[in-house]
Amino acid sequence: MMILRLLQLLLFLTVAVLVLQAQASATLGVAYGRLGNNLPSLPQVVQLLQANHWKNVMIYDTDPHVLEAFMGSSVRLIVQATNGELQNLASSQAAANQWVQARIFPYASIIQFIAVGNEVLTSEPALAQSLYPAMLNIYNSLLTLNLSSAIKVSTTHAANVLDAASFPPSNGRFSSSVLQNMLSILGLLSTTGAPFMANVYPFLAYVGANGDIKLPYALLETAPGVGVTVADSGSGLVYTNLFDAQLDTLVSALEKVGYGGMPLVVTETGWPSGGSSVSVATVANAQTYVNNLVARISAGAGTPKRPSLADLHVYIFALFNENEKVGADYERHFGLFYPDQTMVYQLHSPQA
Ligand SMILES: *[C@@H]1O[C@H](CO)[C@@H](O)[C@H](O)[C@H]1NC(C)=O
Repeated sequence: MMILRLLQLLLFLTVAVLVLQAQASATLGVAYGRLGNNLPSLPQVVQLLQANHWKNVMIYDTDPHVLEAFMGSSVRLIVQATNGELQNLASSQAAANQWVQARIFPYASIIQFIAVGNEVLTSEPALAQSLYPAMLNIYNSLLTLNLSSAIKVSTTHAANVLDAASFPPSNGRFSSSVLQNMLSILGLLSTTGAPFMANVYPFLAYVGANGDIKLPYALLETAPGVGVTVADSGSGLVYTNLFDAQLDTLVSALEKVGYGGMPLVVTETGWPSGGSSVSVATVANAQTYVNNLVARISAGAGTPKRPSLADLHVYIFALFNENEKVGADYERHFGLFYPDQTMVYQLHSPQA
């Protein structure tokens, strides 16, 4: 009888946990980059996002014209303090207060996160020392304005904050060159309840691996006969796709420095639909990757290492093909839409 009761209790708890997990809803968003000279007007963009049920949007600055255009719509934004603004923001509390008053406060109702700087620790090492003070000053400004619960302050990281030897996922660790600044930042994120933000590109990992990664694994293809599984010899966990493996590599790195439970936001992920320098940058592959990713996130599953990552926030890069992006040719082909607002490929967009 006792055992039966216990079993019933266990069953109840299992069902309760499953229900809770189902309720933790994943968030899909899109990154609205504006490095193009032929992009639609702001009102057109607001309408396009609404028509396609995109409610979560990342922008790469705090341009008042853009923020003004979004006021009154139902979007929730990640805005960015640009790398060029970091030194001023780090210089004094007064400078940060002024910036928050002008750039954030009037639009606070639509802002969810402030990403301070873009991939600073690895792409702008000269600014690395300014990052933590800039984040702290912005946080303190928000605190004074009673906005520090509603708006969380974080910063985006590129994959190369990880040590090059971070394979398999259980071996994930931060590179020694960023570790000291990273620890200050993680401490701040932890005490303020802010998420760790990372740009996660299976495309770049695939291209960088020179054939060591199978394409279906990078494209999140899991159909029988097509899908690929990779076992992590360190943890015993089995991966069906590179996106999960990359997330768990970050989780392992966070865990090794004491922050394994920190919430994660994938501020960018995507796959280019063109660019002749890389043969897998095709419309078909971009469509496969993004649709599989949307399905993967919408299903609300966590990762093998963190099943509780079901409420992951993921932003797809990008809304438009941006013809003024610099770098490899594929950089100008990440869009879901062409500048004329036609779709590059059919996408099952997130439902309202
Ligand atoms: C501070 O903000 C919270 C919402 O984040 C609100 O509930 C509370 O009333 C605000 N307090 C003051 C003093 O405005």
